[in-house]
Amino acid sequence: MATLADPQPDFATLPDMADDVFTAPLTKPDHVGDDWLEPAQTRYTSDDNAVWDDLFARQMDVLPGRACSAFLAGLEKLDLGRGGVPEFGTLSEELGALTGWSVVPVPMLIPDHVFFWHLANRRFPAGNFIRTRETFDYIEEPDVFHDVFGHVPMLTDPVYADYMQEYGRAGWKAMRYNRLKALGALYWYTVEFGLIEEADGVRAYGAGILSGPTEARFAVEAQSPNRIMLNVDRVMRTDYVISDLQPTYFVIPGFGELYRQTVERDFDRLYRSLPSGFTYANSAVIDVDNVLHRGTQEYHLRGGRGSGARPV
Ligand SMILES: [Fe+2]
Repeated sequence: MATLADPQPDFATLPDMADDVFTAPLTKPDHVGDDWLEPAQTRYTSDDNAVWDDLFARQMDVLPGRACSAFLAGLEKLDLGRGGVPEFGTLSEELGALTGWSVVPVPMLIPDHVFFWHLANRRFPAGNFIRTRETFDYIEEPDVFHDVFGHVPMLTDPVYADYMQEYGRAGWKAMRYNRLKALGALYWYTVEFGLIEEADGVRAYGAGILSGPTEARFAVEAQSPNRIMLNVDRVMRTDYVISDLQPTYFVIPGFGELYRQTVERDFDRLYRSLPSGFTYANSAVIDVDNVLHRGTQEYHLRGGRGSGARPV
């Protein structure tokens, strides 16, 4: 059995976890194996399928002109609006023909080293369950709508697809250095909340923006948040907000640049120099930043989510 310290070069085998490597305390349901995959995708009810359709329709009102072109093209290539929750087998066949990725069902959030292993093998783990009408507007745990609608269309872009695989490969190294927080910030500010420069302005490619009704407008158009060009070292030192809109978004000039900045970085060296906590607050603008828009931070200064502040 390979270990985290000595992974197999082809990432074929799930590594054994050493006792001194931190992982979030998750209890594995009895019916899933070490790979945490569900034996089959949930059979959704007609209500479940109607929730998907309504969420889909709501996002399609918001996303044109705010989502990046790769995302909108991916939605179309995979025909995610054909009605009801997509069936993962068909979706995987179509996605596989484009970039070699598949979508696999998992019961809940899964341990980091298992998540990295699936990504390193071009498998995207997607939550099996779908939110209810009661949690229609906001759900903290990622469900099938967030995972499939938000993430999967981007995996049709060949360069982005390679970036996600490299991210998975980078995961075990971050665990060995106990710097998961830093690598998690990179995921947060790219895969979940990333913006990209396009000919007509910045657009969203992060799934956390694309799968919710409010953040697409806020991230792309509002005066409140900072928009700063991505610098991997800086982002990995930056704190983030989990349950509110982001005070800062990081912008890439293209997916090739995102891939290059990540793959060419000497992460051994970086992890040795990174402190265990974050250096920069999530609203900070620092000397090295290439700032596209310096935010007013009005939304967060007024108290953010729960205060009734408008996302301006
Ligand atoms: Fe996500």
